[in-house]
Amino acid sequence: MWCSSIEAFLDHREAKRIAGKVDLIFTSPPYPLVKEKRYGNKKGDEYLSWMRDLAPRLVQLLSPTGSVVIELGNAWQPGSPTMSTLPLRTLLEFQEAGGLHLCQHLVWHNPARLPGPAQWVTVERIRLKDSFTHVWWMSRTERPKASNRNVLLPYSNHMKDLLRKQGYNPGRRPSGHVVSEAGFLADHGGSIAPSVLSLDSEADRIPQSLLKLSNTKWDAAYIEHCRNNFLDPHPARMPLELAGFMIQLLTDKNDLVLDPFAGSNTTGAAAQALGRRWIAVEMSAQYIEGSRGRFEDTLID
Ligand SMILES: C[S@@+](CC[C@H](N)C(=O)[O-])C[C@H]1O[C@@H](n2cnc3c(N)ncnc32)[C@H](O)[C@@H]1O
Repeated sequence: MWCSSIEAFLDHREAKRIAGKVDLIFTSPPYPLVKEKRYGNKKGDEYLSWMRDLAPRLVQLLSPTGSVVIELGNAWQPGSPTMSTLPLRTLLEFQEAGGLHLCQHLVWHNPARLPGPAQWVTVERIRLKDSFTHVWWMSRTERPKASNRNVLLPYSNHMKDLLRKQGYNPGRRPSGHVVSEAGFLADHGGSIAPSVLSLDSEADRIPQSLLKLSNTKWDAAYIEHCRNNFLDPHPARMPLELAGFMIQLLTDKNDLVLDPFAGSNTTGAAAQALGRRWIAVEMSAQYIEGSRGRFEDTLID
């Protein structure tokens, strides 16, 4: 849905209709960057209070067992090789203002990111490249709907080997854990995903259930659609697999997923592919136009 902003959406009758019915709010809000970006980033404390004010309004849309997941990158102090604490402070304030529990702090690791901030990383070589974003999973209850069985990773070759041979070296480990003879030998269909996500289909680190998603050419179709229609592709698109992972972890088929800062609507594309209902709000008409490229076959106006 196109709205002039999430604030306008929250005042709209559609927001009243879905109050208490959203199973997952998954979003990557505009980052609190130092320089203004094309898509209206706010700065410093203004950003912090804006996100804080939005928290209770978004939370009232959630179902009692629903989750809100926010992906937020790092920020650096202007002209200084030091990090800003603004993203973390924002997440904390959002959590508190929304009366939310922090279910888990996940990390989205993207080793393919270009080295930056350039001055400190590639010029002066005094910092490491910034290669992760924060993914905060919050909810109204301590036990929101969730199942890690929905996002099992393929077993490593070593584990496959053990399962085949049904042999394990029992005994006490240096960590103090005692491994029984059959302790790890049940085949549960895959290994439990860690909280550092680095979902890479080539490295075999992607849940089987998401393979279909990662093999689709959605982003290529999106870029082509933008090119054909003289639209700028969104500069900060998130990976389809990240949206797909969180949607599978936290929702069932037909559940309702909302992205209040949808950009190119990666969230909606993943939700649709996984059989969930979705609502996307985005302030830029141009980005919404571009996002149609993700739904060429299925779009209903
Ligand atoms: C980081 S981008 C989201 C990118 C998206 N996850 C994707 O994969 O394409 C944040 C988006 O929020 C939008 N935005 C900023 N302020 C907004 C507001 N008040 N209401 C709705 N959208 C807003 C921006 O136009 C931008 O497209």
